[in-house]
Amino acid sequence: MNLHGSSIRTTLQLGIAILGITLASVSAQVGTDHMASAPWMNSSLPPDERASLVVKEMTLDEKISFLHGTGMVGLSPMSPLSVNSNGGAGYVPGVPRLRIPALQISDAAYGVRQSGENGRYSTALPANVAAAASWDPEAAYEYGGLIARELRAQGYNMSLGGGVNLTREPRNGRTFEYMGEDPILAGKMVGQVMKGEQAEHVIGDIKHYAMNDQESGRNAVNVNIDKRSMRESDLLAFEIGVRESNAGAVMCSYNRVNGDYACENKYLLTDVLKRDWNFKGFVVSDWQGTHSAAKASAAGLDHEEPGEIFYEEAMKKAVESGKVPMAELDDHVHRILRSMFASGIVDDPPEKSVVDVVGGFEIAQKIEEQSIVLLRNEHAQLPLDAARVTSIAVIGAHSDVGMISGGGSAQVDPPGGNAIMPPGQGRTTWQAHIWFPTSPLKAIRAHTPHANVQYDPGTNPDSAAALAKKADVAIVFAYQWESEGMDLDSLSLPEHQDDLIAKVAAANPHTVVVLETGSPVTMPWADRVSGILEAWYGGSRGAEAVARVLFGEVNPSAKLPITFPKSEADLPHRSIVKPPRESTTHGEPDEWKKIAAGLPAFQITYDEGLKVGYKWYDAENKQVLFPFGYGLSYTTYNYSALKVTPGKSVHVNFKVTNTGDRAGAEVAEVYAALPERAGEPPKRLVGWSKVKLNAGESKEVAIDVDREYLSIFNVERDAWQLVPGSYTLMVGGSSQNLPLKEAISLQ
Ligand code: BGC
Repeated sequence: MNLHGSSIRTTLQLGIAILGITLASVSAQVGTDHMASAPWMNSSLPPDERASLVVKEMTLDEKISFLHGTGMVGLSPMSPLSVNSNGGAGYVPGVPRLRIPALQISDAAYGVRQSGENGRYSTALPANVAAAASWDPEAAYEYGGLIARELRAQGYNMSLGGGVNLTREPRNGRTFEYMGEDPILAGKMVGQVMKGEQAEHVIGDIKHYAMNDQESGRNAVNVNIDKRSMRESDLLAFEIGVRESNAGAVMCSYNRVNGDYACENKYLLTDVLKRDWNFKGFVVSDWQGTHSAAKASAAGLDHEEPGEIFYEEAMKKAVESGKVPMAELDDHVHRILRSMFASGIVDDPPEKSVVDVVGGFEIAQKIEEQSIVLLRNEHAQLPLDAARVTSIAVIGAHSDVGMISGGGSAQVDPPGGNAIMPPGQGRTTWQAHIWFPTSPLKAIRAHTPHANVQYDPGTNPDSAAALAKKADVAIVFAYQWESEGMDLDSLSLPEHQDDLIAKVAAANPHTVVVLETGSPVTMPWADRVSGILEAWYGGSRGAEAVARVLFGEVNPSAKLPITFPKSEADLPHRSIVKPPRESTTHGEPDEWKKIAAGLPAFQITYDEGLKVGYKWYDAENKQVLFPFGYGLSYTTYNYSALKVTPGKSVHVNFKVTNTGDRAGAEVAEVYAALPERAGEPPKRLVGWSKVKLNAGESKEVAIDVDREYLSIFNVERDAWQLVPGSYTLMVGGSSQNLPLKEAISLQ
């Protein structure tokens, strides 16, 4: 297309020389002609109008071709049309006669997937849960922007990222792909990621809608939950994400919710998403999440992926026989086209180019630096003084060569292949443990050229302890790998790492633990070590970011988006409900046929309801290891002068002072306790601000709290409702450290 375009231009330029007319006027003429024949190419028209103009021109077959993908190896039969795919998870041919481009869709949770396999390169950002830990909307926006630029450079125009399932079950193997346990934090942050993506002209997609809170038996499970709990927790995160970003697509999930598959669930797709939230984009099924034509269509599913099992021949027949009204079909097509116009992919299609590797490194590192949570720092163990420390023992988690990343369809391929095994492989395999070539050992050595920095793999705790004993400081790297398609058996560190840490800590009182995890972990050794950092899955430049925090070039400013419980016994559910054998298909030949037809349902009941995360521990009076919203800094902050003024929204004003001797950024958090008769858990997060403060500096902080965030969902009225009564607003640096309080009355 490009080549074609440039040859027309050369011919025109010759003509210009001869005729003495300007190229601009020729272009304008050509443009006007195009618009006369294709008025939807007029970018000044609203996207809805442009979409309607196209729908009018389309034949039934063209419409149907828009409603499904063209297959994916292993998941569904492949259509011959898939030859034009760019190599991503999805490809939907365009309609060249109407100048409508194809959709080239790629997974892109923390970076663009399948780049190794396609001979390309992508940046790995820190995991999504890490981005949430930054509590920094600007960082989230930048996160999305980087992903979108790399998608476009690789020839994609639609992303599948935007995971925002609430952490109701922290053993869920995809916790790293989501934004934590609070709906307002998660919703706002995913909204910013989507905004950042769409600003670069890529269709953003929020997923997996909804209640896909565990991986075990995900194609079969039926989640039982009451409407109020759902609306105030998991669905609220989606509501905010969709509202803040106008994301072009929402992916419905694999599981059933209260009886119906999410992708044919009228309540979720039509009543809530399209009606109540006024979502204008399209609903795409998770890959193999479609189970019918007429039922799914009527429920609000617009597009089937990855193949054409229901939304091609079966759909055509359903339309021709009147089972699916033409207006319903047109609405599906309209929504897809609308998102294409609204996101800018028609007017500004991607052009393949070289990914900006260094730019990606810089952004990935900067975001990780804002996402590393300092959990413990006894006797100001950290930051380490690079000029003074003479010997360091670096132990465990392959920290000599790399850092772990999260697996499944979120997996980003490391340049040169897995840093551990097998070396030099360009593509990653499903559910392999993939280590990014970012070496903590090298980064630490680079900060301390004069110290003796030795490495021990940690496989033998006694030899690691012996090395630690001889060093000024021991830094133990510990990891918990997780992935789509599995759940964690437990929140304990695997591979005897608890034992390793305990032995090293016993040998050296200056032991610092750096965690590389996607979920909370239990820490039986927590009070025996002097420092703990949660680095999550740190991305392409995780090691450099960790080293800069360890040596104080970066003052930690992140807070936990997720509670770290003391023990698994404190979780709402003792263990994850596993599917019976007939509800799984793992590795069976032709498994797609069984999944499409629907596997027998098994049940999970989320009877903790709206008590998700900290709301559960608060309501049940359970002590936790590290609370939601918690994170230390190398400086200290003081909160004062709270003033709460009710109005259209509730205005919360207060002052934060940096009382220490170095600059930092404090996430100031606002919580609300609702009137007793609202029947809510003790408190909920309603706002926050990340405030940058120099040493000794004070700032006034003003946060406007939306009344919806103070409301409950009234099921009888099918609407949000502010319960009249007394509300207590609380302000501070974590969900369990809220020194300022003021009660107001709201009617
Ligand atoms: C995952 C989605 C992903 C899709 C396409 C599914 O298995 O659940 O998150 O976008 O595959 O790869």
